[in-house]
Amino acid sequence: MFTERGPTVRELVGQALSSVERGYDLLAPKFDETPFRTPEVVLSATADALAARGAYATGLDLCCGTGAGLGVLRQVCRERVVGVDRSAGMLAVAAASAGAASLVRADALALPFRGAFDLAVSFGAFGHFLPHQRPALFAEVHAALRPGGLLAFPITAPPRVGSAGYWVLWGFDAAMRVRNALWRPPFVMYYRTFRLPDVRAELTEAGFTVETPALSGLGHRPDGSPRCRLVLAHRR
Ligand SMILES: C[S@@+](CC[C@H](N)C(=O)[O-])C[C@H]1O[C@@H](n2cnc3c(N)ncnc32)[C@H](O)[C@@H]1O
Repeated sequence: MFTERGPTVRELVGQALSSVERGYDLLAPKFDETPFRTPEVVLSATADALAARGAYATGLDLCCGTGAGLGVLRQVCRERVVGVDRSAGMLAVAAASAGAASLVRADALALPFRGAFDLAVSFGAFGHFLPHQRPALFAEVHAALRPGGLLAFPITAPPRVGSAGYWVLWGFDAAMRVRNALWRPPFVMYYRTFRLPDVRAELTEAGFTVETPALSGLGHRPDGSPRCRLVLAHRR
């Protein structure tokens, strides 16, 4: 899973026993060598799908980390591109390749933007929010977008119940729950709580109109359904 230049087990344990913010500060220099960085194949499928739907002036990468989504925004936005993240360490790494993009340190639950963006994207970060925090998160993104603006993010189909992938995710979430019951500060990172039906309902409630086209280039499951969809939430 990790390249030779990635974090050691000892470093990963130290990071996992920290807060989310401190953990990412520590992981930042080696983050791009981990599987936690969104893979290029997902980024380019998202960029292609967004480009096919039109051009955007301004774009926000929510929880940008080291800048995975900034490249997507650079491809589809004509004007201002901004990355926001809570980890100063991740932003410092992002700065090395951010080009003209601006980087802002802020909590996604208290965004310092109002009506500023045509497009917001986010990759690989929603597991850091507890289900009860999502209405506030989506309300913040809604407020940061212009009327008619678009929030876009890929969502992977859940593994079939009983499959190897199912048990890996189940085991990971169970380990995080035990860790968070025993240790402070908590490290919120749950993979199984971000389910499309719930998310669609929460986005609709927050004032978005939602469509979920398949990202067909990322393949299909044995039953023919797409492995990955793009959630397109239009601010009403
Ligand atoms: C798994 S990384 C994903 C980074 C990048 N989007 C990618 O796909 O490679 C998750 C990122 O979310 C950020 N993050 C977590 N909770 C956050 C919050 N409440 N506000 C802003 N950023 C947050 C972390 O600092 C981290 O950089």
